[in-house]
Formats: sequence, structure tokens, C-alpha cells
Amino acid sequence: MASLGVNIDHIANVRQARRTVEPDPVSYALLAELGGADGITVHLREDRRHIQDRDVELLRATVRTRLNLEMAATAEMEAIALRLRPDMVTLVPERREEVTTEGGLDVRGQLPAFTALTRSLQQAGIGVSLFVDADPDQLEACRQSGARWVELHTGRYAEASWAEQPQELARLEKGTALAREFGLRVNAGHGLTYQNVEPIAAIPGMEELNIGHTIVARALAVGLEQAVRQMKALVQNPRREPLFGQRHP
Ligand code: PXP
Repeated sequence: MASLGVNIDHIANVRQARRTVEPDPVSYALLAELGGADGITVHLREDRRHIQDRDVELLRATVRTRLNLEMAATAEMEAIALRLRPDMVTLVPERREEVTTEGGLDVRGQLPAFTALTRSLQQAGIGVSLFVDADPDQLEACRQSGARWVELHTGRYAEASWAEQPQELARLEKGTALAREFGLRVNAGHGLTYQNVEPIAAIPGMEELNIGHTIVARALAVGLEQAVRQMKALVQNPRREPLFGQRHP
């Protein structure tokens, strides 16, 4: 059964729209945990557009589940992670001009750098996850890097048309199986919603889904605790049959 990591970056986005003190993502993390979040995820971006350093520091002291820090593979971020010791670091690609994370890491192309950073973080007792597309060559590189986890990028699945979604799902299923054959543990995320999450949650061997935008969006209507509760129910008990073709013949 997959668990649920709740990404609270978008709470910080609302705060940063006015550069004020509310809403505070730190207090919303507590509500997410009350709703059943198995972990809290934040992305500390180089440009600090949403989550701030102080958020990560306070979350480290207050999160009772697990803190997953998404970050770029830079010396600045490595130093912050080594100081704050999140339970997990998920390494992601980052470009200043993007609206949100686009595409997975090129671990194959920069294997020595990812191997060194993974070793440094793991030696400090921090779990390391690499955010990659479900591509056999990238998964093989992840194995070589020594990382214990991968997070499979579900963006293409989420953006696919109804006709294309089954093939994107199959790619993620195959990627999960291959990663597990390599001895990697598997998470997934990006673009998942209340409508499309169930087939991903039902993939055998899938351990954790990291979900943010759709939960924060629903929280505007029902509150964060309830929004997390509703997502957790889908993640824990997904319908097994694909949803696509049946609803949209
Ligand atoms: N996983 C990773 C690696 C991400 O970069 C993001 C977006 O910050 C997410 C999961 C969550 O994506 P979404 O907000 O679309 O649920």
C-alpha cells in the first residue's frame, strides 16, 4: 500500500504573493499530518520563490512524520541538507524560468557528480531519492549512483490525453518493476490529482506518492486536513481497474 507525502510549497506560494507571514506552511504541515500525511515535502528552490530557509528549519523541528527536502544538486543545497538533516533529500532538476519542475534528472549524463553527492548525504544518515523519468537507462544510472530511492516523474502521465494515458501508465509500471529489480525503492509524483492518482497508487511496489498542487487547491474548499484525508483514502485503497477508457469510451 502506497503512502502519501504532502508537498506544501503552494501554501508558501500564497504567502510569498504578498511577502508577508501568512499562510505559514509550517502550521499547515501540522494540519496535513493530522489529515494522515505520511510525510511532508518542500522544495527549497535556489531563487526561494516559495519555501524559505526558515520554513525548512522550523519544519525540521516540528514535523512528526518524515521531512523530504526537494533540492537541486548544488553545493549550497548540499550544505543546507547536511546542516538540517531532513529524513530524505529528493534531488530534482531546477531551472529559474520554469513554473514547476520540468522533466527528470539526467543522472546518466552526470553520474560522477550524483554519485558523490549521494554518498555525502547518505553518509550523514539522509535518505537520497533521485527524481527521474521512467527510462531504463536513467534507472540503471540511479542504481550505479548508490542512491536507495528513485522518484518516478508522473508528469507525462498526468498531461497525457485519455487515449495516451494507458501507455504512460504502462511505462511507469515497467519503470517501477525495473527499478525494484535493480534494488531501488520507488516513489512517484508530479501532476497527480484526485482524478488520476488511483492507477499510480495501485502499481505493485510503489511506496510513496508526493502530491502538492491538487491537495492545496482542494484545501481552499474543504480545508487542508480534509483534503489530505480524501487523497489518503484514494492512495491507500485505489481502484485496481484503469479509469480512463471506461469513463471516456
Ligand atoms: N515531486 C516532485 C519531485 C516535484 O518537483 C513536485 C512539484 O514540486 C511534486 C512531486 C508535486 O507535484 P504536484 O504539485 O504537481 O503534485
